[in-house]
Amino acid sequence: MKRRYLMFAVLGCALVGAASLATAQDTTEKALEKYRQMLRDDPWSNPALLDADRGEVLWKTAAGPNKATLEKCDLGKGPGVVDGAFAELPRYFADANRVMDVETRLMWCMEKLQGIPRAELINRPFPGGGQPVKNLGAIATYISSKSNGKTFAARMERPQEKEVLALGKELFHRRQGPFDFSCASCHADAGKRIRLQGLPFLGQPAEAKKVIGEWPAYRVSSTHVMTMQHRLFDCFWQMRMPQMEMGSDASVALIAYLVKNAEGGKIDAPGLKR
Ligand code: HEC
Repeated sequence: MKRRYLMFAVLGCALVGAASLATAQDTTEKALEKYRQMLRDDPWSNPALLDADRGEVLWKTAAGPNKATLEKCDLGKGPGVVDGAFAELPRYFADANRVMDVETRLMWCMEKLQGIPRAELINRPFPGGGQPVKNLGAIATYISSKSNGKTFAARMERPQEKEVLALGKELFHRRQGPFDFSCASCHADAGKRIRLQGLPFLGQPAEAKKVIGEWPAYRVSSTHVMTMQHRLFDCFWQMRMPQMEMGSDASVALIAYLVKNAEGGKIDAPGLKR
C-alpha cells in the first residue's frame, strides 16, 4: 500500500513538474517574443543597421594588395549596381562559371578586384560571441538592406542553377554525420522546437518565406550580425558535421534551396533574431 502511495506521489510530482516546465517555457517564449516585437516596433533600434552603414563605407573604401574598392563588383545587375541585386541571388555568374550567393560573390570580388587571397577570406570568416560581424559580413548586410521591401526573385532557370538547386534539396534531406541528422530532421515539421528555439519548417514555402528574408540578422543572444553563411555553418556544427567552408558548393546549394522555397517572400534585412 505504502509503495503504491509513493508511486502515485512520484508520478504526481513528475506530471506537475512537466506541466510547470511547459508553462515556464511558454511564458519565457512569450516574453521573448514581446521583447523582439518591441525591438521591431522601433525599426531604428536594430543594431545591425550600424553594420549595414559600416558595410557601405567598406564597399567604397580601397582595400587589399590592389588598393581597389568594390564599386566595380558585379552582383548580377552590372558592375556596381547594388539596389535590388540581393533579391535576385543566388545566380549563375559567367565570369566565375559558378552559381553564387551574396557572400560567395563578395568573396570572389574581394579576391579578383582587391587581390585578397581566398585562403585569408575563408580563414575564421565569422565572429565569435560578442565580436562584431567581419567586414565581408558587414558588406553583405549593406547589400541585402538595399533589397529591403523587395521579394525574392532568384530565377534559377539556367541549367547550372537548376543543378545547384537539386544539390541543395538533396543535401537538405540527406542524413549524415555522427548523429545521422539531416537539415530536415530539425526543419521539416511545423511547430518543432529545441529548448526555447522554434525550428522553422524551412522545407515548406509558408514558413521559409517568413524567415529567410530576415537574413543577415542581428542575433541578440550573441550580440552581433549573423549572415546566412554563418547560420548554416552553425547548423552544420549542431549536426557535428565537418566545418562548412564559406562559399563552398554545399553552402551555396543549401542557400539556393532555402531561397527557392522562400520565393515571393519579402526581404526584410537586416532582421532580428533571439
Ligand atoms: C539539431 C537540429 C538542427 C539541424 C539538424 C539543423 N538546424 Fe538549422 N537551426 C536549428 C536551431 C536550434 C535554429 C535556431 C537557432 C537560434 O535561434 O539561435 C536553427 C536555425 C536555422 C535557420 C534560421 C531560421 C530562422 O529562424 O530564421 C536556418 C536558415 C537553418 N537553421 C538552416 C539549416 C540547414 C540548411 C540545416 C542543414 C544543413 C540545418 N539548419 C540543420 C537547429 C538545427
